[in-house]
Amino acid sequence: MKTFTRVADHVLLATLKALRLDSRLFDVLYRNKNRKLFTNTYVHQKMLADTIRCQRYHDALVKHVKPDSVVVDLGTGTGILAIFAAKCGAKKVYAIDHSDIIQHAEKLAKREGLTNIEFIHGHSSRFVPNSKVDILVHDQIGSYLFDEKMIVNIVDLRERVMRSDGLILPGHYDLFLEPVQMHSDRVVRHIWDEKICGVDITSLSELEVPYSWYHRFSFNDPGAVDHFLCEPESVLSFDLHTINEESQLPTQLSYSRPVVKGGRIDGFLVYFHARFDDEVFFTTGPEADRAMSWSYQLLRTKPLQYETGQTLNFNIEVDRWSNTNSWRWKCS
Ligand SMILES: C[S@@+](CC[C@H](N)C(=O)[O-])C[C@H]1O[C@@H](n2cnc3c(N)ncnc32)[C@H](O)[C@@H]1O
Repeated sequence: MKTFTRVADHVLLATLKALRLDSRLFDVLYRNKNRKLFTNTYVHQKMLADTIRCQRYHDALVKHVKPDSVVVDLGTGTGILAIFAAKCGAKKVYAIDHSDIIQHAEKLAKREGLTNIEFIHGHSSRFVPNSKVDILVHDQIGSYLFDEKMIVNIVDLRERVMRSDGLILPGHYDLFLEPVQMHSDRVVRHIWDEKICGVDITSLSELEVPYSWYHRFSFNDPGAVDHFLCEPESVLSFDLHTINEESQLPTQLSYSRPVVKGGRIDGFLVYFHARFDDEVFFTTGPEADRAMSWSYQLLRTKPLQYETGQTLNFNIEVDRWSNTNSWRWKCS
């Protein structure tokens, strides 16, 4: 029965691909999932509780919004960024969200006595303003940086509704994939290397699916990282003002770096810097003032021991960065 279902799935997917309907189907499924996820108040509370995140957006809007600015807040959620922009004196703010959370955003703006925000309940791809937009503010940023369809959503608005010299906040990104040793009581061991209360479970290694979610670990506590093996350096940078398609990004990256602090590699830590301009930015990395609403994602590896001074080689290949299931990483 299982084999039959697998074959049926395979045939269905192949047919959809042949008809070029697969990406549209995935798109519809993604939108539904995203809409439902952001109806959940918990995720919004987590973002609002992130004081660094909120402060940096506020700093950037105070600096860049002018009395004649037309601002669009893509994915307004609870309305917080649209409200910041309105309070900075923007002429007009469009606040778009496809999730029902937007009803709370409208109430919040009303309570603040703001009349210059227009709320639009729907997907950004259908948004058409009356006048060109000067500033696009957004938090379309996933913990894997690309996993909330940031590039496609923003390029669509940039090309259709923004002035050619319009400003995207934040617009510039640097991605880091850093080799780390985890704290000894926070290492997630590979189950097939273990005996559990005396039971040898190595035969379960048959279940292993390479690069699956089992090989990743999501966490929030920076204290879980014992140390970095190399000097951090970003592997990829891009700017939303100039990029046109995700396919412009390289799909294969590699580096060779000296190990500056020896130890065991447990995986590669995914984090990023998001820049509003040359001065205002936030990091989701383990620095002291990190923006906390994003989780760390660890791309786990076999635990290998490195001495200080050795060279660590890393390689990652992706089909698309926004499809985190397609990430394949290796270290030697
Ligand atoms: C990470 S939350 C950010 C919420 C809010 N801007 C903040 O900073 O607290 C992203 C929001 O974007 C919305 N969203 C995602 N893609 C969208 C799209 N293409 N069109 C409209 N809303 C979208 C989600 O429903 C969610 O509320």
